[in-house]
Amino acid sequence: MDITFLLNGETVALSGVSPTTTLLDWLREDRLLTGTKEGCNEGDCGACTVMVTDASGAKALNACILFLPQLQGKSVRTVEGVSGPDGTLHPVQEAMVAHHGSQCGFCTPGFVMSMTTAHLNGATNYDDQLAGNLCRCTGYAPIIRAAEAAAEQPVPQWVRDDPSVKAPSSPFIPENADDLAAIYAKHPEATLVAGATDVGLWVTKQLRDLDPVIFLNRCDDLKTIDIDPDAVRFGAMVDMNAMGAAIADLHPSFGEMIRRYASVQVRNAATVGGNIANGSPIGDNPPALIALGATLHLRKGDGRRSLPLQDFFVAYGKQDRAPGEFVEAVSFPRQEDRLKCYKLSKRFDQDISAVCGCFNITVDNGVVSAARIAFGGMAAVPKRADAVEAALVGHPWTEATIATAQAAFDADFTPMSDMRASARYRLGSARALLARYFAEDQGQTVSVLEVSA
Ligand SMILES: Cc1cc2nc3c(=O)[nH]c(=O)nc-3n(C[C@H](O)[C@H](O)[C@H](O)COP(=O)(O)OP(=O)(O)OC[C@H]3O[C@@H](n4cnc5c(N)ncnc54)[C@H](O)[C@@H]3O)c2cc1C
Ligand code: FES
Ligand code: FES
Repeated sequence: MDITFLLNGETVALSGVSPTTTLLDWLREDRLLTGTKEGCNEGDCGACTVMVTDASGAKALNACILFLPQLQGKSVRTVEGVSGPDGTLHPVQEAMVAHHGSQCGFCTPGFVMSMTTAHLNGATNYDDQLAGNLCRCTGYAPIIRAAEAAAEQPVPQWVRDDPSVKAPSSPFIPENADDLAAIYAKHPEATLVAGATDVGLWVTKQLRDLDPVIFLNRCDDLKTIDIDPDAVRFGAMVDMNAMGAAIADLHPSFGEMIRRYASVQVRNAATVGGNIANGSPIGDNPPALIALGATLHLRKGDGRRSLPLQDFFVAYGKQDRAPGEFVEAVSFPRQEDRLKCYKLSKRFDQDISAVCGCFNITVDNGVVSAARIAFGGMAAVPKRADAVEAALVGHPWTEATIATAQAAFDADFTPMSDMRASARYRLGSARALLARYFAEDQGQTVSVLEVSA
């Protein structure tokens, strides 16, 4: 493939690139830019963080799971390009020195890149901004003090990169959904790459050879968010940070769950379409979207069809998607906010759910009039709790009804035990989450961030 992008302000034009070359490997092995570190090589540690600028702004991304074709027409800045052309330190670098933000230094380039991007974007919630950067020896307090000190300083002009670089066209990097539909119909055997937060690991951890590969990152018409009076629609290529920001106003609990989805770097890459299409039983969006009554929109060539999202997940590893068919969008009806999303994971930030329960229960005059409840982590696919819903609808919204409905979880789910949780924990937690929803609805404090001894 032929790829053109800016690297630290200078044009790079590559030809004959293997589509699954990661930016990290290329930087370190081809360009000998070894400031960008390899820690985990799977998106978890942030040692490989770089800043990528395109029309949607500057974003921190993990270079280890970023393929070169995803950079087509964009600008990349690595830690080698953070100080000014005359060697002047960036305010983040100065502050890291002044506040002793580095000991062994292995994590430092990644932190500096996350902090430089946050500084440029005026983002100051450093618990969020740095959740995807792991430091083993300095400790976070000096690093956060450095970030706070740097925030007082203006953004240097030299880190403001060109958002749109002229790049060659490639049929495997289509520019819009029509072109994508055409090339995928011609190559239904191809692997689609959206954010590569799953596919990246197929390459870096499973050492899979993928060919051909179609990259969706330039399909701007799949990145639209439509919030109409009747419905909300997310294009498949909307990333998790954009989706989280949009959903937070409509369904704050959903927005809060997305805030805990991986890290800033992963959320900047991961897309709603990829999170659905991968069919994972532990993806965070499907249960929340199913609880909202979502419809999935699929496209193959010029043909389109829609189906209830829950019906897309047929069995483990099997989705209702034909060869050459791709996810175009997901939508759900506008509604009063009754949704609560509860994600249980071993670590609060940057962890995959052991159990994710999403509850959307309507109560009229003290009686449950509608219930949509869906879980991740409880079955081979994201799944609705039909028996629990049936035990609620038409019954008074009382503790007694909750107790009866809790028993119905046995009929809905036979979860498995794995490294994330035991079957017993999963089932017990699911029952407890229903009680939590009820308690929260009665005005009780239930968030672990708010409950105190
Ligand atoms: C460090 C880390 C933390 C993570 N944390 C979480 C988490 O907290 N919660 C969570 O839910 N997930 C998490 N994930 C998993 C991952 O981020 C999600 O599954 C993500 O949404 C996948 O989206 P993507 O755009 O990166 O997909 P990709 O990796 O590009 O693709 C995933 C799959 O979907 C297919 N695909 C992509 N787009 C389309 C489309 N439009 N139509 C048809 N097929 C398509 C691809 O071919 C591939 O099979 C994490 C991953 C990492 C690496
Ligand atoms: S090397 Fe750990 S996130 Fe990339
Ligand atoms: S300074 Fe050693 S890991 Fe952060």
